[in-house]
Parts: sequence; structure tokens; C-alpha cells
Amino acid sequence: MNHTILSAKNLCKSFAHNGGQLHVLSHVNFELYEGEFTVIMGASGSGKSTLLYALSGMDRATAGEVFYGGKDIVKMKEKELAKLRYTDFGFIFQQMHLVSNLTLFENVAVSGYLAKRKSANEVKRRTDELLEKMSVSQIKTHLPSQVSGGEQQRCAVARAVINEPKVLFADEPTGALNRKNTTDVLDLLTELNREGQCVLMVTHDLRAALRGKRILYLEDGKIIGELTLPEYRSADEKARETQVNAWLTSLEW
Ligand SMILES: Nc1ncnc2c1ncn2[C@@H]1O[C@H](COP(=O)(O)OP(=O)(O)OP(=O)(O)O)[C@@H](O)[C@H]1O
Ligand SMILES: [Mg+2]
Repeated sequence: MNHTILSAKNLCKSFAHNGGQLHVLSHVNFELYEGEFTVIMGASGSGKSTLLYALSGMDRATAGEVFYGGKDIVKMKEKELAKLRYTDFGFIFQQMHLVSNLTLFENVAVSGYLAKRKSANEVKRRTDELLEKMSVSQIKTHLPSQVSGGEQQRCAVARAVINEPKVLFADEPTGALNRKNTTDVLDLLTELNREGQCVLMVTHDLRAALRGKRILYLEDGKIIGELTLPEYRSADEKARETQVNAWLTSLEW
């Protein structure tokens, strides 16, 4: 039985544009299930990032509701929303946005300190554990400028999960990575999901989308398709790719 952790009802988002309104999201209804790896695909400009930002409270919807923890985050005061983003959500972006004058270790640990949920020792222990898991512990004293894009992104994944977010939001997390680094980051996300992490990822990349258990397809700000898949297994990737590709083709991707 799927348990809904976050849901959107009739979500709309418009931007002021050339004296008029640009309607980017139009009456989106959506449920995110606990522990599931969900992917949002769609053409460039279809509203994927806008949807992710509205669902995660990074931006506010123009109309509609986003329920999380029994509350509508669209109506939440900015202060409460900021706290929620900090305590319950984790974020990964295409550009890693690491703090340039902090080491990889410090970038992760600072998020842990700021949340004030763990003692300093516990934060340090967890940071080391995560950096080890992300295979960047040998370079943890390096600055972001001294490591590769893939290493930066692995560090950003560690930072995103240090406070054990209920939902991990990712917007094109592999968009700036080469093939090998893409696989590494996707493997990490898959592993985190196997351990129970709920992931909502926006991507253009078919290989990234294959990691999802559920793929939603957005067109002109509306969800026009949904595909449910079995658990991801690397041994089945080819068959999965064929299936997802055929589905995307049917949606004129
Ligand atoms: N702050 C804004 N002001 C005005 N228009 C915006 C704003 N943000 C997004 N848009 C417009 O909304 C539409 C959807 O943008 P969005 O970034 O959600 O697309 P996307 O599906 O994530 O595309 P991509 O795959 O290229 O990242 C685009 O036409 C974009 O120009
Ligand atoms: Mg986008």
C-alpha cells in the first residue's frame, strides 16, 4: 500500500510576462509516495523545474495546494516554510552550489550544524560516514575548486542527506556530469532509495530516468503520462531502457 508523503492539488504557477501572464503549471495533481523514487521528465520548458520548486516550497504556487505533513505549504508563512525546507527536505541541483571557501568536509558538516539536531561530534561522524559512502573521503580537505565536477556532486549529495530529509529533491543532478560520474551519482541515489530515501528527480536524461520506479511526463505544465516500473536492477537496464524509450516515443518525446 502506497503511503502519500506529499501531494499537489490543482497546482498552478504563472509568471508575469510582457505585461501578461505566462501559465507554466496548469492544474497539476500529483502524489509522492513514501520511500519511492519518482522521476519527472518532459521537454525543455515544459515546467519540470517550476513544478519541483513549487512542490518543495522553494517557490510558491500561484494557485492550488501542496500538502505535506497535514499542512498546505502554499499558505505557509515564509519563516515556517524555510524551516520545513531545512528540516525535512534535501536538494541537489545541476550546479552543485558548494561554498567555494569551505572544504568538502565543511560543506557537508555546516548543513548538519545549522540544523542543530545532532551534537557537533555526531555531525562530524555522520559527515565522515557519508563522504566515505560517496567515495570522496580521501579528498575531504580539498576545496570544491580542487576536485572534479563529479566529486563536487557526490559531496552535494552528502550535504543534501546529512539531516536525513524526508524527501530528496533533485533537479537535473547529472546534467553537468560525464558518463562515469553520472553513473556514480545515479548509483548513490539508487542506494539511498534502497535504504528508504524518498527521491523526486527531474531529468532530461533517459539513463537517469531509468532509476525511477515511477516516471511522470510533463507537457505544457500538465502531467500527461505516468509509467510504473519494477525496482531498478542494473542487470535489467537494457530491457528497462527499451520499455521507457517506447513509452517516451508514444508521448512524442
Ligand atoms: N521566474 C520566471 N519568470 C518567468 N518565466 C519563467 C520563470 N521561471 C520559468 N519560467 C518559464 O517557465 C517555463 C518553464 O520553465 P522550467 O524552468 O520549469 O522548464 P523545465 O521543464 O525545467 O526546462 P529545462 O528542461 O530546460 O530545465 C519556461 O518557458 C520558462 O521560461
Ligand atoms: Mg529545468
